Amino acid sequence: MTDLSVSNIPALFPGRWSRHYAASKLRTDPLYTALARDLRDARLPLLDIGCGVGLSALFLRAHGIAFPIHGIDYDERKILSARSVADAAGISDATFARHDARGGLPEHQGNVCILDILQFFDAGEQESLLRLAVTRVAPGGLLLIRSGIRDDSWRFKITVAGDLLAKASRWMKAAPTHYPAAADFQRILSPFGELEISPLWGKTPFNNHWIALRRR
Ligand SMILES: C[S@@+](CC[C@H](N)C(=O)[O-])C[C@H]1O[C@@H](n2cnc3c(N)ncnc32)[C@H](O)[C@@H]1O
Repeated sequence: MTDLSVSNIPALFPGRWSRHYAASKLRTDPLYTALARDLRDARLPLLDIGCGVGLSALFLRAHGIAFPIHGIDYDERKILSARSVADAAGISDATFARHDARGGLPEHQGNVCILDILQFFDAGEQESLLRLAVTRVAPGGLLLIRSGIRDDSWRFKITVAGDLLAKASRWMKAAPTHYPAAADFQRILSPFGELEISPLWGKTPFNNHWIALRRR
């Protein structure tokens, strides 16, 4: 077991910009805390779809949460960064692979998370990804999603602007394509188990929500 703590995660990243990004995400965004809260007692492996630079794996390990984690992302740079930072942190049982989720998902049975990536998919692709992700969740397991939700709020407008900025700064390879509404999650996911949707924006101005499906 590593002696990794949340406060020393940013220093693991090379370069000022990525250290600053990691520090500010961990300080202001309640995303990783929600993930750790819901998976605190989990034993099943986690598939992290669109894992980015692997912050969720680091955060979970920093909380002593030890189940195997497999992260996939279509951005090669991010996968290389996730691997090298996980190595530097000395965390075990966390693997990362380049994989475009539009082309399907790896075999997996356990818990699944999809954090802040749905906006890059169009409506049809979102539905396909959600339906496929459910098949990777074991009975009694969790599908945990964080997504901006399309509605009439000022938060939604800021969410779109933030994603456009991430593309303009080339941090994200793609611009946002489509944002799901709460009713889309209800329609697609509620037949598979118990679904809860709640706000998860913390100190950010974004219209982010936490969508948790406990599979029957
Ligand atoms: C906003 S980042 C979120 C990263 C990570 N989930 C987190 O919350 O720390 C969105 C990620 O989705 C990835 N992504 C976008 N489209 C993808 C696709 N089709 N397949 C796999 N990853 C994708 C991007 O490369 C990026 O790393």
